[in-house]
Amino acid sequence: MAVRIRVNVPDSTPYDIIIERGLLKNLHERADEFNLSESVVIATNTHLDDLYRDKLTRWLPDAKLALMQDGEQYKNLDTVRGFYDRLLDIGADRNTTLLAFGGGVLGDTAGFVAATYMRGIPLVQAPTSLLAMVDSSVGGKVGVDVPQGKNLVGAFKQPQVVLIDPAVLQTLDSEQWRCGMAEIIKHGLLADEQLLNRDLWQPDRAEDLIERAVRVKVNVVQQDPYEHGIRAHLNLGHTFGHAIEKVTQYAWLHGDAVGVGLLAAAKLSYRLGLCEADLIDTIDALLADAGLPRSTGNLNPDSLYEAMKTDKKWKHGVSRFILLEGMNQATIVEDVPREDVIAVLSEMAD
Ligand SMILES: NC(=O)c1ccc[n+]([C@@H]2O[C@H](COP(=O)([O-])OP(=O)(O)OC[C@H]3O[C@@H](n4cnc5c(N)ncnc54)[C@H](O)[C@@H]3O)[C@@H](O)[C@H]2O)c1
Ligand SMILES: [Zn+2]
Repeated sequence: MAVRIRVNVPDSTPYDIIIERGLLKNLHERADEFNLSESVVIATNTHLDDLYRDKLTRWLPDAKLALMQDGEQYKNLDTVRGFYDRLLDIGADRNTTLLAFGGGVLGDTAGFVAATYMRGIPLVQAPTSLLAMVDSSVGGKVGVDVPQGKNLVGAFKQPQVVLIDPAVLQTLDSEQWRCGMAEIIKHGLLADEQLLNRDLWQPDRAEDLIERAVRVKVNVVQQDPYEHGIRAHLNLGHTFGHAIEKVTQYAWLHGDAVGVGLLAAAKLSYRLGLCEADLIDTIDALLADAGLPRSTGNLNPDSLYEAMKTDKKWKHGVSRFILLEGMNQATIVEDVPREDVIAVLSEMAD
């Protein structure tokens, strides 16, 4: 069953997120429905190109390809320039549609290219990782990393449609599945307890799982498209998570770091008297069942704290955390004492 979720955000035409198994294999026949122009360039990465080149050629025979290397370390301005060069080489103009086929790294990078090439060309997001389906492809944030930090250069660019075909998850490995689960658990804690029901976590129920998780994000994004308030709640677990990614130089996967970050946020919330202790146990059990790590291992609490200070959300060195007062009750807390954060990080180490 196809699901269509309409997204209304200011300054942009409303668009649909379509969730449908087998959607991509009929892309050519449905080009008009999705408003695909005559000229489509598929942006993807070398890994997905290896896996899907034949299929992509069948799905959209007339499209040209533009490739980037696979990995967060390539989500940068050099790669953006590479895409511009390729688009110019093949004569892409303002009527060319860029179709981003890949995980969050590809979607963010290609999305930024679409936002800026010739002051903006149409973008279609076709997310292929679980994380990209439920998180990065929804909401219009695109951008790249610079040596000083993650996602520091970017734009808002709403796609004209988001095409989610759960069939492509077949080739996603279990590590990446579990990383998507970390964001789904985050969405569940923030706004939909049904997402925490393990029965829904089975790959054969991916459509339902994705639909519910996408709805959480769409609701938040529609209320606060430019992150003046409640959209910040989506950063639950991410202050800790980004610090872990940073100190390990991205050796930790984003979802693993966010998972541990959710537990750290619960522990900090409890320590500050915001929530009951059983919320910690609930999150611990969710992470365990999703195969996500629940400890920061040998990572040094002081180094993690230093890394947190570069968080975009911290202003003038004043800390800012998204914490939980309970299920469905996120709250923003500023100026948390350093010692409380260090205590939680020490508790989370092995
Ligand atoms: N824009 C936003 O709002 C937003 C939100 C959350 C995360 N993000 C960004 O998303 C990125 C993380 O995304 P990600 O977790 O998808 O990582 P990713 O794009 O690196 O994908 C993970 C790995 O899975 C591979 N892969 C993806 N789909 C596959 C498939 N169907 N079959 C086989 N392999 C597949 C990729 O090639 C890659 O090796 C980060 O850069 C993060 O900053 C952005
Ligand atoms: Zn995330």
